[in-house]
Amino acid sequence: MSVHEDNILILDFGSQVTQLIARRIRESSVYSEILPFNTPIDEIRAHEPKGIILSGGPASVYAENAPHPDPAVFDLGVPVLGICYGMQVITQHFGGRVDAASHREFGRAELQIDQAAGLFDGLGSQTLVWMSHGDRIHDLPDSFATIAHTDNAPVAAFADLERRVYGLQFHPEVVHTAEGRLMLENFAFTICGCSGSWTMANFVETEIQAVRDQVGDAKVICALSGGVDSSVAAVLVHKAIGDQLTCIFVNNGLLRQGEAEKVVSTFRDHMGLNLIFADEGERFLTRLHGVEDPEKKRKLIGNTFIEVFDDEAHKLQGVKFLVQGTLYPDVIESVSVGGPSATIKTHHNVGGLPEDMQFSLIEPFRELFKDEVRAIGREMGVPMEIIQRQPFPGPGLAIRILGDVTEERVELLQKADFIVLEEIKAAGLYEQIWQSFAVLLPTKTVGVMGDERTYENVVVLRAVNSVDGMTADWVHLPYELLGTISNRIINEVRGVNRVCYDISSKPPATIEWE
Ligand code: XMP
Repeated sequence: MSVHEDNILILDFGSQVTQLIARRIRESSVYSEILPFNTPIDEIRAHEPKGIILSGGPASVYAENAPHPDPAVFDLGVPVLGICYGMQVITQHFGGRVDAASHREFGRAELQIDQAAGLFDGLGSQTLVWMSHGDRIHDLPDSFATIAHTDNAPVAAFADLERRVYGLQFHPEVVHTAEGRLMLENFAFTICGCSGSWTMANFVETEIQAVRDQVGDAKVICALSGGVDSSVAAVLVHKAIGDQLTCIFVNNGLLRQGEAEKVVSTFRDHMGLNLIFADEGERFLTRLHGVEDPEKKRKLIGNTFIEVFDDEAHKLQGVKFLVQGTLYPDVIESVSVGGPSATIKTHHNVGGLPEDMQFSLIEPFRELFKDEVRAIGREMGVPMEIIQRQPFPGPGLAIRILGDVTEERVELLQKADFIVLEEIKAAGLYEQIWQSFAVLLPTKTVGVMGDERTYENVVVLRAVNSVDGMTADWVHLPYELLGTISNRIINEVRGVNRVCYDISSKPPATIEWE
């Protein structure tokens, strides 16, 4: 744990949008982190927070086993802001009464501000907010005053100005609350006295020093995948310790067309990193021969990756550290109060840590969200092409080639996939789409080319939008673009006579086909 100059601590009661509170506050250059609601007071104190936010959550404060914070958070002497459920926790703690509202209030509401109270400084008398709650404040605790109301909620916001404890019945962190960012800024700056010094440039500077202190003159390795997180992590660590860092990039033969060459030229030639290129496509493809089951493919690729990485790492002497691009959402402890707010991915990521290897970890982005890592990449001059890259699964094209994975089928899919990306980029859509790619089906269909009957492969085009990969919608690509992609694939990729477009969302479908 590192202590930050300014830190707004969020106690998570299980709301789906808790992470957004931290992101909004950080966007205002104030560091903010999330801890489980029941974090003991000593641990909270050790973070030296300037203020505390109690998040929303699905429970009712009167329910059996309702989650409660360590009551000493109210004696720390720092301001406290409760949001929805958090407001009800405050109400109950200070002796007020919470009631089940006659109907759940969900959606937009017009907030009437009765008193600015620091929290609403700079706002007019009315503003749109986003409500989502089942309970509401029936009796205010003694020392509290109502500072805003809506038609349905007589106490939509309250404050005890002396204690500096505030409550909001709505969510300031979601975009539907028009001036929510200003409210959170008022809390952080005016009420908690934060200075706003959390910037990406500062982060890079501090982190470079931290890596130097951690590593000394030891050697460090990094598994570079060419994706955003590992790339930016490698560049940052390289800036800190130069040639003490060796990156290992494994070509598993399942990458996109031209990808391996591009990663090598970008990082070795352009950015000057010490890079080992393990060109092991054949090893992976030989093992994959005859394997059709998706999970078997994943395991096999994961294990082979570890084997290759292990071989390469053992050739180096005296390596003590391993760089990982772990992000904050992977680290946040999920709380279970009627459902965790952070869902941990179960995917076996072949870029991950070989489990039996004994290295200390360097994880420069453990405290960061993905958009912050992108900002750091920009700050350090990592090419935009890498920073904006769509996610690509560790097992690569193997889980987009349904059935048996052979060299010929990889080549065929690489060609089709290249066309998809080229056209999506030409249409200016690449950066707006979460993922766009081609899939090769294990069936053949009848077609006609010239005067001849053909019996060839089907390629499926997939394009989805998503925020985190957990849910996704298929993208309504323009018909023109669909037509161009289909024509090009059928004309340019030998062995394909049909192109389909996948119009399923996740759930119930998944993004990948395997
Ligand atoms: P699904 O297909 O489960 O994918 O909707 C969600 C996200 O995860 C990626 N994905 C993987 N990434 N190893 C990875 O590193 C995997 O085995 C894997 N399977 C799916 C997928 O591309 C999407 O972004």
